[in-house]
Amino acid sequence: MHNPFGAAMMLWRNRKYAGGDLSDSDHDLSISRVSQPRRRTNCKSKPLFILHLALQGCLRGSNVAYGITADTGGHIRYLLDLAAACARDPEVGRIVLATRRFRGAFGPDYAVPHERVGGKVEIVRLASASPDYLPKEDMAGQVESYTGALVEWIAAQETPPDLIHAHYADAASVAGRVRDRLGIPFVFTAHSLGRVKAAMGMAACPSLPRRIAAEEGALRRASLVIASSRDEAEVQYAGYTAYDPGRVRVLPPGSDLARFAGAPTSSRVDASIDRFLADPRKPALLALARPVARKNLVALVRAYGESPTLQARANLVLAAGTRADIDDLDGDMAATMREILVAIDRYDLYGRVAYPKTHEPGDAPAIYAYARERGGVFVNPALNEPFGLTLLEASSAGLPLVATDSGGPNDIVETCGNGILVDPRSPSAIAAACLRLLTEPAFYAACVAGGARAAACYDWGRHATLYGGLLRDLRASVPPPGRPRQLLICDIDNTLVGCEAGLRAFRRWRSRQAGLAFGVATGRSFHSAMAILEQQDSPRPQVIIGSVGSEIYHLDANGVTYTADAAWQADVGRGWERSAITDLLAGLDGLVPQSPLEQRAYKLSYFGDGRAAAKVRARLDSVGLAASVIHSHGRYLDVLPVGASKGTAVDHVRGLYGLHDRDVFVAGDSGNDIEMLRARRQSIIVANFSDDLASLSGLAHSYVARASHARGVIEGVAHFRRSAALVDHAG
Ligand code: GLC
Ligand code: MG
Repeated sequence: MHNPFGAAMMLWRNRKYAGGDLSDSDHDLSISRVSQPRRRTNCKSKPLFILHLALQGCLRGSNVAYGITADTGGHIRYLLDLAAACARDPEVGRIVLATRRFRGAFGPDYAVPHERVGGKVEIVRLASASPDYLPKEDMAGQVESYTGALVEWIAAQETPPDLIHAHYADAASVAGRVRDRLGIPFVFTAHSLGRVKAAMGMAACPSLPRRIAAEEGALRRASLVIASSRDEAEVQYAGYTAYDPGRVRVLPPGSDLARFAGAPTSSRVDASIDRFLADPRKPALLALARPVARKNLVALVRAYGESPTLQARANLVLAAGTRADIDDLDGDMAATMREILVAIDRYDLYGRVAYPKTHEPGDAPAIYAYARERGGVFVNPALNEPFGLTLLEASSAGLPLVATDSGGPNDIVETCGNGILVDPRSPSAIAAACLRLLTEPAFYAACVAGGARAAACYDWGRHATLYGGLLRDLRASVPPPGRPRQLLICDIDNTLVGCEAGLRAFRRWRSRQAGLAFGVATGRSFHSAMAILEQQDSPRPQVIIGSVGSEIYHLDANGVTYTADAAWQADVGRGWERSAITDLLAGLDGLVPQSPLEQRAYKLSYFGDGRAAAKVRARLDSVGLAASVIHSHGRYLDVLPVGASKGTAVDHVRGLYGLHDRDVFVAGDSGNDIEMLRARRQSIIVANFSDDLASLSGLAHSYVARASHARGVIEGVAHFRRSAALVDHAG
């Protein structure tokens, strides 16, 4: 139904311009940039009515009994926090949380048909086929009957909801049916994904295939999918057949971090750690995680055990859950705990590693404070961390981070600049990152300062503003303006963004540019680009050229979601030998792969200097593998199919828009912009350029702006328009 290429093409033909799992906390269920986004106001619109649908768990408006059932967890906290934050939005009129009505052992509250939570927020409990509590694994049988009850309930309301937001796959099955019957669009949040569970070895669970099928259905039919991290949006969802990246948006949840900032130490907690240590005054490398294989604590013990320098400088503190008897631990916890103890013994780490037997649920702030007071580091070496709440907590408590490069921590470290990402499978990388923080005081201080921003970055108010804006825009479905007369494509980092006042000026300028289509071309992936543009409240681009030109996304007719340009994808991929190139470059001296998230289908990315770039080119040449090697900022090195660059992608878009070269402006600042600047006749180099752009051959025609960042872009467009007018005049 959602034909990516069709949408992009149609738009032009018709001249319509169609344009985590959060429960990763180990000790409680509290979930979590910087400038507050502006609310895009549409004064005359009627207030939004949002209906959230969550069938699982024991949902009530206060005193939620977290953990009372396996399904009464993080998603309920998320839902209540989201509803509370949205209720503060003056443009939201009514929020209903619809759940299942059931009787039984958990108390009478869940059989009450209506509960008012706050002024705008209500819980509505509707009956379905079974009158009893059911775990999510048994929910499928309730979908039909619940849908019937919900349709009836909606019919009885004065006005129907504008949108339904389904939480978890079964709710999406209901929402899909309601959409078919009443035409109400729905938004989907998976919270955790069946395919991810299956990949982690839970494939034996008999209800998983059905859950995965329901998730496929949800992805196919939802108008918008909300993810909590880039990893979820780009890696976890990517396993699904119906995955359509342009309809997924990353909106990190808020977090309640107040109790971590400047938290005091506790003598009881200090004593529980110190009793293990020969010199308890040393800095502590702290990990706080349940002892499950996925959390990969053994790799940290190994990293520490194999580095005498690290042992000399710091102690290791493992706050690994709570145990009375290891033999009684659930799941893989007993085996993991034993593995940790064996590793401590193998490396003879006695007197240097603390692994207290228990800590109380409220102790987390004091545990972080213990490490902070000793100039320590928080380490999260998980094989995959869907979101990374403990990282936000540790940051708020004043600790710098060493974190896995798999999952949510990518976003957190990029947003806050609060630590180092490492390959969790490499003990030597973990040790090196810890040592760097312990031996470079200025870097340590910068990471602590970055971490202090975590609470402001991961704030429910922020989330609600962005979320409300997306829902309103979806409801309004204002298609982008008619066919453009001109096209401006801007690089993002250090061109469009990098100066807040400049971007504000750009926003005002842009709003007066009828007839000018605006797009971006970036080294970032689609979701990474969207995240920074939304964070910075940039105008929404009509086209996003991502991953250094190897991917193109067009804004849909609804003005909110995007569709990948399948024709471009097919073009670009021709002759691209990704795995041969990966193998060829593996282990090349001076070349370090960027994080797994930066490795795209048609883009391989590394860190490396100019010498490494030369070696890469030589090695590719020597075996006759065709690829283009792009070096930026003296340290980023991208390897792409020969046909993929920002320049070729801009030309593809120009063709789709039916524009002449003289109607196109491009702007950039660094190495990965060279192709694009060279190929277009109206190219703008902003004043803050790098990589010697202004003196490169082939770029002499570019306009080097006097202003930097977005102001330089405005200056450049004005320059070329003036020149064109002069030519016209003379002609
Ligand atoms: C962005 C990308 C990175 C790439 C760089 C230069 O930072 O995230 O992967 O190497 O741009 O193109
Ligand atoms: Mg740039």
